[in-house]
Amino acid sequence: MSVDELFQTADWKTEKHVPVIECPDTVPNGDFFDLKVSLGREVAHPNTTEHHIRWVRIYFKPADGTAYEVGNFEFTAHGESAKGPNTGPVYTHHEVICSLKTNVPGRIVAMAFCNIHGLWESAKEIQVS
Ligand SMILES: [Fe+2]
Repeated sequence: MSVDELFQTADWKTEKHVPVIECPDTVPNGDFFDLKVSLGREVAHPNTTEHHIRWVRIYFKPADGTAYEVGNFEFTAHGESAKGPNTGPVYTHHEVICSLKTNVPGRIVAMAFCNIHGLWESAKEIQVS
């Protein structure tokens, strides 16, 4: 079995589990740019103790090279408390904004894990000016 078989993908406009990758199509050579990865931009994903996004991981794969990990972001508060589910005082929203730089074109790959619907992925190609 390939690791690819673990992941599901779809159009983020209709499937709430697919990471939405937002960054320039062409990034400045060697200068930091902002990258945002979120879920549920068109169709909201729940954020409850029973059903939530646990983590987002971001990778960069150069056009001619191996993949590198850009970031690993865990969302660890989902309304848990000693009083029971969804009674806690804090929830982490499943959204990441980070900065990165590169001097080569490639593919940004985002992965997300829903605690009950599994692994999802999406990708975006970037060019370098
Ligand atoms: Fe889900």
